[in-house]
Amino acid sequence: MEKPVVRLGYAGFRGDRAEWQRFACDIFGLQAVPAQDNNELRLRADERAWRLAVRETRDPGLDYLGFEVASHEDLDGIMARLHAHGFAAHEDPALARRRDVQRLVTTTAPDGTPLEFFIGGLIVSRPFASPTGARFVTGEAGLGHVLLIVPDAAEALHYFTQVIGLRRSDSIEVAPGCDGHFLNGGLRHHIVAVAEIPGLTGFDHIYVEVEDLVHVGQAWDKVSGGAAPVARSIGQHANDPAISFYTGSPSGFLFEYGCHSRLIPDVNTWVETRWESAYLWGGTYGTHAVG
Ligand SMILES: [Fe+2]
Repeated sequence: MEKPVVRLGYAGFRGDRAEWQRFACDIFGLQAVPAQDNNELRLRADERAWRLAVRETRDPGLDYLGFEVASHEDLDGIMARLHAHGFAAHEDPALARRRDVQRLVTTTAPDGTPLEFFIGGLIVSRPFASPTGARFVTGEAGLGHVLLIVPDAAEALHYFTQVIGLRRSDSIEVAPGCDGHFLNGGLRHHIVAVAEIPGLTGFDHIYVEVEDLVHVGQAWDKVSGGAAPVARSIGQHANDPAISFYTGSPSGFLFEYGCHSRLIPDVNTWVETRWESAYLWGGTYGTHAVG
């Protein structure tokens, strides 16, 4: 299989828009912008029209994940492999217009996570202006990554590597007897991680990245000072090796904010490895339950 180039493009959440605006803008420096839909909050992180969206609902959680591919051939290939492996997937022009993209394929991962694959994301002329002065690492690396706690890690691994076409960068024992698998779609060390942890399931976290440690530290000061619940203190991951912390988002799942994560300019020279532990330092649990 010719491996496609895939990166995290956008994510949609269900939750309280006012809470999300305070959380995302005041603490983390995303920019709120008017949405087409009055029921939706849209957040910018760069030149794209939006990167995160929050739909007002009393049923908070993840709404969808949008993955950007680099070519129409990659999009066609993913849809063909989804069909060949028996997954429902279809191109949705109306949804593509709502998401401000040229083409979009909608499908559902084996664990039930709603996925969208797209090409042609809209770049707007008005410059991105962060309320905290943060500059986000996006571009060819995409928006960041996500961790899914899945009921069957082998099934999720098969889906994301053999059907979607990601590659495993490495793995770590994230809980006793439970491996986390870190999956690469191109430049960023991982865009999706999956782990099977008994007693847990669902969307664990989204990671967004800024260029400067100063903005991570200033956001950490706000969160550790009580602006949002601490899920994991600031620390440095072993495999990434991002410096980041985790906080409870207004939709319940975790929000990871960090900098200095690894990019892999030539994935063909990457050797898959296994790490002894997830952290080099820090990363102790806070009061907000993980998972
Ligand atoms: Fe992460």
